Amino acid sequence: MKATALAHPNIALIKYWGNRDHDLRIPVNGSFSMNLEGLSAKTKVLFSETLSEDSLILNEEEISGAGLVRVSQILDEVRKSAGILLYAEVVSENNFPTGAGIASSAAAFSALALAASKAAGLELEEPSLSILARHGSGSACRSIPSGFVEWTNGKTDQDSYAFSIAPPEHWDLADCVAVTSSGHKHIGSTQGHRLAETSPLQKARVEDAPRRIDICRKAILDRDFETFAFIVEKDSDLMHAVMMTSNPALFYWNPATLHVMQSVRDWRAEGLPVFYTIDAGPNVHVITLKEKMDEVQAKLAALKGVQKVLTATVGGAARLLEG
Ligand code: DP6
Repeated sequence: MKATALAHPNIALIKYWGNRDHDLRIPVNGSFSMNLEGLSAKTKVLFSETLSEDSLILNEEEISGAGLVRVSQILDEVRKSAGILLYAEVVSENNFPTGAGIASSAAAFSALALAASKAAGLELEEPSLSILARHGSGSACRSIPSGFVEWTNGKTDQDSYAFSIAPPEHWDLADCVAVTSSGHKHIGSTQGHRLAETSPLQKARVEDAPRRIDICRKAILDRDFETFAFIVEKDSDLMHAVMMTSNPALFYWNPATLHVMQSVRDWRAEGLPVFYTIDAGPNVHVITLKEKMDEVQAKLAALKGVQKVLTATVGGAARLLEG
């Protein structure tokens, strides 16, 4: 009973920040993302009678403690649905560096949801897979469907899942990730979601989310770069305003982060199609048209404080692999 799956990380265009239910990861607002082609997590799951406990090997390193517990919770859910009592061996590898400002949990938990359910003999439809991945990491539910993805917040466990609004070929975009620090962040997203509600700005951010989501969806469907740039930057700034005003305050930016943000705004004013968006860290995702990717990568690499620049185009759905 084994299966291997591959999934891409995704970059949030409208951010998920804060939960209505922390245990089930039901978010307070809907979100949007695009999958990142070329970057991926590959996860193999084997259920076997010969195993006496669950085990996890991540990038050739044996993981125990909280990381393993989080994986076992997904395995438990799969075991329960499939009616099996076997332990599992999980082996996962990312082809992108950790600490590069790309959430590895999204790719890892979506690949895990697909591989584990298949290995256990379950044939889950996309929404069920997305819900299963969401239980491991909220943003992972968006790495199950293809291309440009919407996650409706929903009110219950069963109606909070992600779906594709357009395939990758709908719009030739690219993400150039300017790495300004590869160190580990002090407070990760899971804790951050709990802190969101301590900011007096969170209520306003959440109340306005349906409007931003409608604007973002239309901009993607119309391939309207200008509106897209405006709303995605605004949404990122709003999330960081909440982070900075939560208790304790979360300041993820460093001086190079701000230098990249300002440079991106200047380049846009000069006519280059670019905008930025930033997750829970100091690295800056700079979105542009695919035809401008090399130019933007070179410009970013030349900025003071930028250590390296990773690039990705728009990626497809999580999928099963042979072996
Ligand atoms: C800032 O999905 O990483 O990247 O559910 O605790 O694993 P957990 O959180 P996670 O949160 C992502 C936060 C974000 C914005 C986003 O991806 O929408």
